[in-house]
Amino acid sequence: MTIRKVCVVGAGLMGGGIAQTCAQSGYETVVREVNQQVLEKGLARIQSNWDMLAGKGKMTQGQVDEYRSRLHGTVNMEDFADCDLVIEAVIENMEEKLRLFPALDKILKPGALILSNTSSLSVTQMGAVTKRPDKVCGLHFFNPAPVMKLVEIVRTISTSEETIETVRQFAISLGKTPVLAKDTAGFIVNFLLIPYLLAAIRMLENGQATRDDIDTAMKLGCGYPMGPFTLLDYVGLDTTMWAAEAIYDEYKDPLYAPPPLLRRMVASGMYGKKSGKGFYDYQQS
Ligand code: 3HC
Repeated sequence: MTIRKVCVVGAGLMGGGIAQTCAQSGYETVVREVNQQVLEKGLARIQSNWDMLAGKGKMTQGQVDEYRSRLHGTVNMEDFADCDLVIEAVIENMEEKLRLFPALDKILKPGALILSNTSSLSVTQMGAVTKRPDKVCGLHFFNPAPVMKLVEIVRTISTSEETIETVRQFAISLGKTPVLAKDTAGFIVNFLLIPYLLAAIRMLENGQATRDDIDTAMKLGCGYPMGPFTLLDYVGLDTTMWAAEAIYDEYKDPLYAPPPLLRRMVASGMYGKKSGKGFYDYQQS
């Protein structure tokens, strides 16, 4: 099937980055938020990314104008009726997703695909509350979505081969390299990344080393672009905790149990870069 129009549910850090990527890659893109204020904030973040890239000479003003003309914001999901593919990027809460998927199923035309950007929740469960589980799969992007080259395509037990192939071609058209994962909590990347991030927090809790020394050690000792605390702040402590909880729920492996410090920071609204405070402090724009 040919994908022309893409809709994204959620204009947050991930949804906005995904919408930006789709509009840059030539797709008519509609991004939906719960209200006008949140929508404006999401669209402004995308525009400022484009302005930053134009300022660096990475794209021309003409390109920015062209991308912007393909990107449409809405607070009304009815605007998704004629889209070919939807990417869900709302909060990592299964109840929320189980409300959204049947609503999308009702609004979308019969052949349209529904993809979830979930990082660790069961895509099978999301597909099961629609009448088109063969057209549902995961497409997991990494933050920052316009920059990171990987996407995980998550195949449920009901996803058809045709859907996987269409999504694979779609991912390649976005300039991404897709890998295929089964629908098990954490897929590939978070199954490996989350225990590493949680171990860093436990090291800090135990006083084994300082935040800065742990970050420096992993940057310079392993060549990682960011140390674990910088990355935790970048990804979001709330997002990390939800991912850890989802994987812990599935395997009951203590490696994935969120450490007390992480729980307390999230409870205090310290979500990392997006809230201005996490393991480091940030200036709010
Ligand atoms: N849109 C488009 N391009 C962007 C951008 C955006 N929003 N933000 C940055 N860029 C571009 C910059 O213009 C720059 O391009 P250039 O190299 O051609 O000049 C390039 O990206 C690098 O940006 P910067 O120079 O500003 O910064 P760095 O060189 O320090 O790189 C980084 C930033 C790419 C974020 C790098 O530090 C990195 O790779 N960090 C690790 C990120 C990571 O691991 N992400 C995965 C997290 S896990 C996850 O998301 C899963 C979830 O489920 C938990």
